[in-house]
Amino acid sequence: MKRILIINGPNLNLLGTREKSIYGELSFEQYFKELKAKYPSLDLHYFQSNVEGVIIDKLHEVGFDFDGIVLNAGAYTHTSVAIADAIAAINTPVVEVHISNVHQRESFRHHSYLSKNCKGVILGFGLDSYRLGIASFL
Ligand code: DQA
Repeated sequence: MKRILIINGPNLNLLGTREKSIYGELSFEQYFKELKAKYPSLDLHYFQSNVEGVIIDKLHEVGFDFDGIVLNAGAYTHTSVAIADAIAAINTPVVEVHISNVHQRESFRHHSYLSKNCKGVILGFGLDSYRLGIASFL
């Protein structure tokens, strides 16, 4: 059974509450239940932290055993050389995802430090971006 971890970064614990016009009405916990039901043949896990170093620790922890990581690093995408280095340091492939189409938004969201070290990038499909990220590991 393939082991896949979804990691959400800062402020994504507030999905369903936060800026609903951009990020939608569903909490990630609700959506994650749907994902688990959709992929019973996968060992799917979910982790969220608002803290950069904690996200890095989690990447190190699973990054030599799991089959795939789907990472929405939130605003750290645009700032974090340290998360980019952690992705490069581990063996597990990482897919970068974003709920919104960051290229339609402020210019500071157009650059990602992470993309270069990721297997691929999926953005702009709402919460379905996560499902598409998982599908890339099937
Ligand atoms: C986001 C886009 C980021 O620019 C933003 O800081 C987020 C969420 C997205 O999923 O669309 O927190 O990663």
